[in-house]
Amino acid sequence: MSDPRRRVEMQGEPPGSPQPPPLVRSADKALRAWRETPLIFERSRAGRRAGRPPSPDLPVPELPVGLRRAHPPRLPELAEPEIVRHFTALADRTFGVDTGFYPLGSCTMKHNPRVHERLAGLPGFRDLHPYQEDEAAQGALELMWRLQEMLAEIAGLPAVTLQPAAGSQGELTGLMLMRAFFADRGEERDTIITADTAHGTNPASVTMAGFKLEKVDTDARGNLDLDDLRGKVNERTAGLMLTNPSTLGLFDEGIEEVARIFHGAGALLYYDGANLNAVVGISRPGDMGFDIVHYNLHKTFSQPHGGGGPGGGPVAVRDTIEPFLPAPLVVRDGDTYRLDEDRPKSIGRVRGFAGPFGVFVRSYAFMRAYGPGLKEMSEVAVLNANYLLAQLRDVYDLPYDRHCMHEFVLSARNLKREHGITALDVAKRLMDYGIHPPTIYFPLVVPEALMIEPTETEPKERLDGFVDAMRRIAEEAAESPEILKEAPHSRPVRRLDEVRAAKQPILRYRFGDSGGAALESARADPSARENP
Ligand SMILES: Cc1ncc(COP(=O)(O)O)c(C=O)c1O
Repeated sequence: MSDPRRRVEMQGEPPGSPQPPPLVRSADKALRAWRETPLIFERSRAGRRAGRPPSPDLPVPELPVGLRRAHPPRLPELAEPEIVRHFTALADRTFGVDTGFYPLGSCTMKHNPRVHERLAGLPGFRDLHPYQEDEAAQGALELMWRLQEMLAEIAGLPAVTLQPAAGSQGELTGLMLMRAFFADRGEERDTIITADTAHGTNPASVTMAGFKLEKVDTDARGNLDLDDLRGKVNERTAGLMLTNPSTLGLFDEGIEEVARIFHGAGALLYYDGANLNAVVGISRPGDMGFDIVHYNLHKTFSQPHGGGGPGGGPVAVRDTIEPFLPAPLVVRDGDTYRLDEDRPKSIGRVRGFAGPFGVFVRSYAFMRAYGPGLKEMSEVAVLNANYLLAQLRDVYDLPYDRHCMHEFVLSARNLKREHGITALDVAKRLMDYGIHPPTIYFPLVVPEALMIEPTETEPKERLDGFVDAMRRIAEEAAESPEILKEAPHSRPVRRLDEVRAAKQPILRYRFGDSGGAALESARADPSARENP
């Protein structure tokens, strides 16, 4: 059997790159260092200190006895260089869009221009207090107002709230707006329809907002099945929640008819804007017939994201829904800007303060930098995805044979049928090639799904490197499937027991008598791990 890591050494940077990545240069050394990184508590030695600040020349206040600790906290004791090395070693183990290609479908992991960090860190923005009075925060309010205006133009809808902190919170806000809208008209509507390809947050938001959920099928071309839809829309339907292009990366060819069906029944259309990167400047959800739209600022308009944020999920609405938007809204009176709290029909506040302000600065900067070039951003995102699709369609199954938008879904079911290799095996093996795996097993309508989104910020050499890796993996599936079954071979951790990791996570260090003995034994015998 060939050495799986030999193959890794052949991989890495795309052709033309001057240097192979560190992993390739010293795969064995780096691997050993990764796997052996001790916990900070294991590095700790009693009495070591990172620094000794001078004792304050001030009276030490007496703490009430009830507030005092019985024992000093058991903090790790290390010298500063060891702390720096520890965290640098951990940082080294991570993989991000700054490390390599990250085609994680539906997540739009594009490059985040560094200049945005400088702008978000300008003292006038950074040091602003969230409760600063409006007169002293005119620059920040103007930026928010202008961002609202630009987002409104992009969606083709007149009014925007910036408050929601993520796409999913935008969804919940949008559904609360629908509820308020119908309540105000005295209509009782209790059902929201979603596609069977919908992202998991869609049904979750529907349920959280107190609606019943109904799913509509996808037809053979990847569009909403109009016959199924017609049978499900009625006077109880509050609306549709849809992302277009869908999570299959396909633009719904029947969207105008879909809008007619819902509006004809007096229902509303909600646009999940997670896939907006495909259509900015080309088509507008408002023009397609959508009444409420959320944006994922962190995807389409650039924020360092993944691992929990920070995100931004503004919501745009038609004028008939504007009175219900969360308060406060940023408004302009002549040359001044203010937060408008006086909104009697508002659903209220959905987030603390006025929203995730640093996110606003970065997205505003991104949009101003691109200007009309935002259209080209989407065009290149679509072009890159279609380029990859064309290069890979003969080695992986293509369940919906159409041009894609900014992402596409392949299936590894041919590899499974012929060689017993699953989408998970392909994803794990990609890590050995220095590439972040695509989204897998989603959308649910595609068996062994591999959902690939390259984004517009990748050069052709990266795309070609990915194609090369995917094609080689397909060859490996036929020639030496055991390499794929055991992948990844070159990452700090191999295959995980994911169910156990989710159900019995070890979230804190358990001090044994000899400091860490419990963890030592858990390492030696994983079945002995305690669930804290
Ligand atoms: C299609 C779709 N809808 C909604 C969301 C939720 O967005 P967020 O992660 O910002 O809550 C995502 C996130 O990946 C998504 O891909």
